Amino acid sequence: MEKMSSRPAILVTGGAGYIGSHCCRALDAAGYLPITYDNLSTGHRSFVAGELVVGDIADKVTLARTFAEHDIVAVMHFAASSLVGESVADPQKYYVNNLAGTLSLLESMRAAGCNRLVFS
Ligand SMILES: NC(=O)c1ccc[n+]([C@@H]2O[C@H](COP(=O)([O-])OP(=O)(O)OC[C@H]3O[C@@H](n4cnc5c(N)ncnc54)[C@H](O)[C@@H]3O)[C@@H](O)[C@H]2O)c1
Repeated sequence: MEKMSSRPAILVTGGAGYIGSHCCRALDAAGYLPITYDNLSTGHRSFVAGELVVGDIADKVTLARTFAEHDIVAVMHFAASSLVGESVADPQKYYVNNLAGTLSLLESMRAAGCNRLVFS
């Protein structure tokens, strides 16, 4: 953990996934401290650059602890189910994870006083 880092910390949801893991590398190169927040449902621990918090975007307890442990200045949100075929076969999974999960993440951000979001 890098609580007192001079680098601004960015919480990257889905940072163990394809887009999020590249984003973390770009953030690190740009002088930010990426903190990956991912439930590893489709992501890979080995993709993670920097710190990994294993958790779900709908898990308000783990998110509250993560916000309390780091001075997070913004969230970049890549945590999602993103397979087109599966989204047609099982739309409920996509509404729950992508829509309800994102709304829950926004509530956690509001509770933590974090009001900057980049939404992929
Ligand atoms: N792949 C592309 O070309 C592309 C292009 C533009 C935008 N996007 C968007 O970027 C986002 C990520 O896409 P990707 O291709 O990197 O997918 P991905 O499956 O590789 O990454 C998604 C990550 O989110 C995690 N995740 C999923 N649900 C979660 C939850 N409830 N809580 C915590 N973590 C969770 C997964 O474990 C995974 O690591 C999606 O919203 C997608 O629509 C993707």
